[in-house]
Amino acid sequence: MATVHHMWPFPKETKLSDGTSVTLRPMVAGDEAAVLSFFGRVPADDRYYLKDDVVSAEVVRSWAKAIDYNRVLPLLAVKDGKVIADGSLHFWQGARRHQAEVRISVDPEYRSRGLGRAMMKELIRIARERGLRRLLMEVVPAREEAAVRVTGTMGFTPMVVLPDYAIDRSGLLALDLIVMALDLEEADTY
Ligand SMILES: CC(C)(COP(=O)(O)OP(=O)(O)OC[C@H]1O[C@@H](n2cnc3c(N)ncnc32)[C@H](O)[C@@H]1OP(=O)(O)O)[C@@H](O)C(=O)NCCC(=O)NCCS
Repeated sequence: MATVHHMWPFPKETKLSDGTSVTLRPMVAGDEAAVLSFFGRVPADDRYYLKDDVVSAEVVRSWAKAIDYNRVLPLLAVKDGKVIADGSLHFWQGARRHQAEVRISVDPEYRSRGLGRAMMKELIRIARERGLRRLLMEVVPAREEAAVRVTGTMGFTPMVVLPDYAIDRSGLLALDLIVMALDLEEADTY
């Protein structure tokens, strides 16, 4: 199993658009409490559209216990010991092994300063280094406008629209889900 020490070039410093310096590095088991408290700061309306119950202590403990960067690579942004963003690459095996899914959440206090893009850039680089051909991100455009903006400006294109695939918090409104895809063999901006 890869460890944080073996994962070049982490830890890595990056500067947000306002000059704030943050550290990017893969999650390790000792980050469990900080990751749980990070997701507690992500608004419930945002968390609702994520695939996992990220405010469940059990869920985050299961991630921390089973860290395996070949299965899931969780990348954290850390500022003054606090986790301020969590991005992850989810790898598959067999017929899907040429692609991975990417997910990113940023602390609302740090949004719109380029952190989401900085995380995405690292995850794209790692996916390329691992020889993957395509990155996928699931987005509910009616509720995740910033994610549409980030993926759209980084070379992702809509691969498929799943009509009425997500249901809103009230349970009344069905929303489209779009799978955004980045062709890693063609796009070379990032
Ligand atoms: C998507 C997300 C990770 C972006 O993080 P971020 O640090 O704000 O990202 P950046 O600052 O790099 O870029 C955000 C872009 O979205 C734009 N944006 C923000 N809110 C927006 C909105 N409501 N509508 C349209 N664009 C919006 C910003 O202006 C910025 O674009 P610009 O730099 O071209 O002006 C963050 O909004 C988030 O955590 N959302 C909730 C979780 C989520 O939706 N994750 C994606 C699916 S897994």
